[in-house]
Amino acid sequence: MRDIFNAENSVLHEQWVKEYGTTLKYKGFFYTDRLFTMDTRALNHVLTHSSDYQKPSQVRYNLSRILGEGVLFVEGGLNIVNRQVFAIFPYVKRCDFDAMSQRRIMNPAFGPAQIRALTDIFFSKSIKLRDVWSTMTASGEHAIRIDVMGWLSKMTLDVIGLAGFNYEFDALNSNEKPNELNQAFSVMFSAGQRVSLLPILKAWIPLLRWIPSDRDRKIDMAQNTMNRIGRQLLSDAKAAIMSSYGGGLIEKSSLQGRDLLSLLVRANMATDIPESQRISDEDVLAQVPTFLVAGHETTSTATTWALYALCLRPDIQTKLREELLTVETDTPSMDELMALPYLDAVVRETLRVHAPVPSTVRIAMKDDILPLDTPFTDKYGVVHAGIKISKGDPIFIPILAINRSEAIWGTDAKEFNPDRWASPPEVASQVPGVWGHLLTFLGGPRACIGYRFSLVEMKALLFTLLRAFEFELAVPASDIGKKSTIVQRPILLSDPENKNQLPLLVKPYRGP
Ligand code: HEM
Repeated sequence: MRDIFNAENSVLHEQWVKEYGTTLKYKGFFYTDRLFTMDTRALNHVLTHSSDYQKPSQVRYNLSRILGEGVLFVEGGLNIVNRQVFAIFPYVKRCDFDAMSQRRIMNPAFGPAQIRALTDIFFSKSIKLRDVWSTMTASGEHAIRIDVMGWLSKMTLDVIGLAGFNYEFDALNSNEKPNELNQAFSVMFSAGQRVSLLPILKAWIPLLRWIPSDRDRKIDMAQNTMNRIGRQLLSDAKAAIMSSYGGGLIEKSSLQGRDLLSLLVRANMATDIPESQRISDEDVLAQVPTFLVAGHETTSTATTWALYALCLRPDIQTKLREELLTVETDTPSMDELMALPYLDAVVRETLRVHAPVPSTVRIAMKDDILPLDTPFTDKYGVVHAGIKISKGDPIFIPILAINRSEAIWGTDAKEFNPDRWASPPEVASQVPGVWGHLLTFLGGPRACIGYRFSLVEMKALLFTLLRAFEFELAVPASDIGKKSTIVQRPILLSDPENKNQLPLLVKPYRGP
């Protein structure tokens, strides 16, 4: 585990695959065995049987501290009383409002029609960011150094606020106007990012969770702020619906509102929906921080890596800009945006080579046999056609390693080459991902719910920024490293504080 933490993501695993083959095991926390496999059939089995292979309780505990208990967290389902029990006995069986029901209610909010309706939010916030940078770069003749990562993160926070909850964070204006929820959120997120021993032990040893720490206190305060504001947003949305219906019957089909919160409120209040299919106020509220975290830093990180890749390859940056400048308007429709072929190839290639979430883990809930495409030979020389799994075994899901596997993508698999998307290799279709022959958004019933959302948002950002600016690295490429907690972000190796950042030299694009 120490070697894994010290190496850049996935590098060590990829080395092991070369040395030992595609299926192996190694020692994880507390000397427990972890299964690692690159076999796409085995991974498909794990991801499609999502109730037999669940997120580890330790991960769920950490997520719940940061996120509350939204869809990211819930596996079997739980109510308020056994939440407390669950904190102490993580393996207690839970059977209340389960994750798949939450997913069923929320899926429509992330369908193509819903995302189409959100496109103007993606553009208006992209243009806002463009205008902020235009002001910063307008004064001098030279390019200005900007930490693009920080600004992209503000932009995506503003988007998820509006698109998710009709809430204006105004993070792009936060220098002038600090926002209470924004501040609570930064506390929560930075507390969640710091790696230190006590939180890790608390995740593993539930009894230690009674020991108060400064981190817990900060998280509690921030969680209280989030809850208070969340409740206010919820009651505002309900009041708006009640006042427009004057206390009469509320039908599901007649309730409008394009943001996620309105959709959940609709699921909660419509009188033509059976009681059993409604979701409680607690469960509606639990989604607020989940969507804030899941939908904000992931997309800003992906866009940051796209700009990084375009700086390393100015020829690709120019080719992309040329395509984008053929569009006559600053605000194309979602369909026009999605039809731009080179933009699509650049986004795919970024999400392949720089998957923001480089790996994840699942725990087997029962004994099982994983089917394999390629039989493996054990250390005694015996060949196996399947992998025997025991209840409780952890399985590492190698998102990044699969995305840049040479067996799938060829010998140049680690290189950034958008042209490869003109004819992806046939074998890539075996990757069990929900999108693009990649594992970036995972696969199966618990794949990322927000992938369409993030694709359109990322494209709107690149469209707007590349048309307006030229980008160059502000530091030597060798100074840029990758650091990951859950999401993998750039750092400067020369920065003793290891702060996440990507400083670029930005100047207005003034024509060829
Ligand atoms: C480039 C951007 C994104 C990437 C790379 C990404 C990646 C992922 C991955 C890998 C997972 C599975 C994690 C696991 O189970 O271990 C996941 C789950 C999830 N994502 Fe995303 N995500 C992105 C954007 C978004 C956006 C924009 C939203 C919402 C607006 C979102 C909402 C969620 C939710 C709610 C889950 C949990 C689903 C469940 O457990 O059923 N994600 N995402």
